[in-house]
Amino acid sequence: MMDRLEAVFSIVPKAHAIADIGADHGYLAVELINRNRAEFVIAGDVHKGPLESAKEYVQSCGLTSKVDCRLGDGLKVTEKGELNGAICCGMGGYLMRDIVDAGPELLEFYVLQPQNGQKELRQYMVQKGYVIVLEIIVEDAGKLYTAFLAVRNDQVEAYTGMAEYVDVYQSLPEDSLLWSVGALLEQERPSLWPKYIEYLIYQRQCALDGMTEQLSHTDKYKDLEREVEFLHGLLEDRKK
Ligand SMILES: C[S@@+](CC[C@H](N)C(=O)[O-])C[C@H]1O[C@@H](n2cnc3c(N)ncnc32)[C@H](O)[C@@H]1O
Repeated sequence: MMDRLEAVFSIVPKAHAIADIGADHGYLAVELINRNRAEFVIAGDVHKGPLESAKEYVQSCGLTSKVDCRLGDGLKVTEKGELNGAICCGMGGYLMRDIVDAGPELLEFYVLQPQNGQKELRQYMVQKGYVIVLEIIVEDAGKLYTAFLAVRNDQVEAYTGMAEYVDVYQSLPEDSLLWSVGALLEQERPSLWPKYIEYLIYQRQCALDGMTEQLSHTDKYKDLEREVEFLHGLLEDRKK
């Protein structure tokens, strides 16, 4: 598997049944079985082409009794009581939020690797009663990705082994940029942290540079400037 999917795999908890939604090639679904992370996997995809590739790959690995490939939208291809958790990788955060919201039920955990909409997805999961217990940054083919594990609050002890878990997101103001950046990442500062923050600064700086003189008086421009300043502060903190 590519580094991005390996990193996602590393934060998937062991469970009886897990779905990989947007399974595409089916690599992750197969690894969940081969490396004993799950006993049963549902590989779902909304498009026929990707689902056929997943099916072929699962067949070639001799795993058709353990990986069930289903065509359809999100978790609607699953039934209540079938799953412990689900994984969604490589899609937009807004789509992931809609997939979780459409159900059919709120699962024990989700492993999510959104390509955008990080803030909205994290805020949605926390509102729905999930605790974000792990966050990672990974570099793959020159690009940086983040992913997180969200566990339903009644399952935190079961999945983390910690009776008292301090949830940093509970006290985070709604307008904090850390909803986008990752409040756990900010606490833990993994080795890719400076590169990640520099990339977030670069993205915002490009947006600022692309704005005309007229736009430089807008709230959007001022917000971006504030974000760049905040992000520089996160880099400074590390040097102390
Ligand atoms: C960019 S690929 C990512 C594949 C794989 N998860 C990965 O990270 O390498 C996104 C996949 O999600 C599927 N997809 C998009 N919307 C979906 C939905 N609502 N339900 C299920 N699958 C969906 C697409 O058909 C595509 O195969």
